[in-house]
Parts: sequence; structure tokens; C-alpha cells
Amino acid sequence: MLTPKLEKALNEQIKYEWFSAYLYMAIAGYFENDDLPGFANWMRVQAKEELAHGQIMFDFICETGGRTNLLPVDAPKNDYSSALNAFEYSLEHENFVTGRINTLMALAKSEGDHAAEIFLQWFVTEQIEEEANFGLLVKKLKRIGDDGNGLLRLDEELATRVFVPPAQLAV
Ligand code: FEO
Repeated sequence: MLTPKLEKALNEQIKYEWFSAYLYMAIAGYFENDDLPGFANWMRVQAKEELAHGQIMFDFICETGGRTNLLPVDAPKNDYSSALNAFEYSLEHENFVTGRINTLMALAKSEGDHAAEIFLQWFVTEQIEEEANFGLLVKKLKRIGDDGNGLLRLDEELATRVFVPPAQLAV
């Protein structure tokens, strides 16, 4: 059974995961408008991952006898000055989410909820991957700089990303 503090914190985290989906769809829209469909595809897939993250938390609250309480989701930033600007903004957002996951993990420990600790471990690991993915693309975009051909090659690469549902959702 979730403690009230943990139930509240998990409900808040669902909001941030689904805000992330909203943010990455906003960025996908920016890329569509900027004629970079591969970048847009990458962000659409990322948005699906974020919806899945929120869904996994929603399911955990239900499975542990807690009560879901969905909160308002803020409007995301829709306009960016470049692909690099959009990815730097996203990386900063992922750093923020990592901080939130770490705070949730600390709360699970202090509440003595071992099931929640084990559950949250997946998110701790996932955030390492998220930051690495965004960080690598920030580095690539910095290297590309003003090279239009380099940007188009990266766009082709990002067009190949496909959504793979996390194992927790397949059950
Ligand atoms: Fe669900 Fe990108 O953190």
C-alpha cells in the first residue's frame, strides 16, 4: 500500500511525464514546420515513450491500491531558434526529470517502501539512457554547426527511429 506522500509524489510525476510528451510533440511540430521530418519523427517517438512512462506510473499506483489523481499539464514551449536550441532545451528538461526521479527514489527509501524503490529503479536507469540520447544529439548538432548537408544526413538517420513499448506495458 502506498503511503499518502508517495501516492501524491507519483501522481505529480505522471504530470511531468505527460508534460514531457506534450513538450516533445511541440518540438516535433516545430521540426515539421522547419522541413525536418526525421527530427520530427524522433521527437514523436520520444513523446510516445513519455506517454508510456506516465502509463507505467499510473498502473503502479493502481496495482498498489493507491488512488490516481491526474493534474493539469502546462503548455509547452512551441518555438525554437534551431535544432540545436530544441535539443539543448530538451536535455535541460531531462536533467530536471532526473532530479525529480532521484527525489522520488529518496522518498521511497525514507518511507520504507521497498516495492516502490524497486519500481523506481527502472526509471533511474531509463534517465541515464534519456540523458545520453539527448546529450549525443546535442554534440552531433554542435559538430554540424551551419553545415546544411550534415543536418540533412542527421535528419535521415533520425527518420529511422521506431517506438518500442517498454516491457511493463506489454503485459
Ligand atoms: Fe520520462 Fe524523458 O523522462
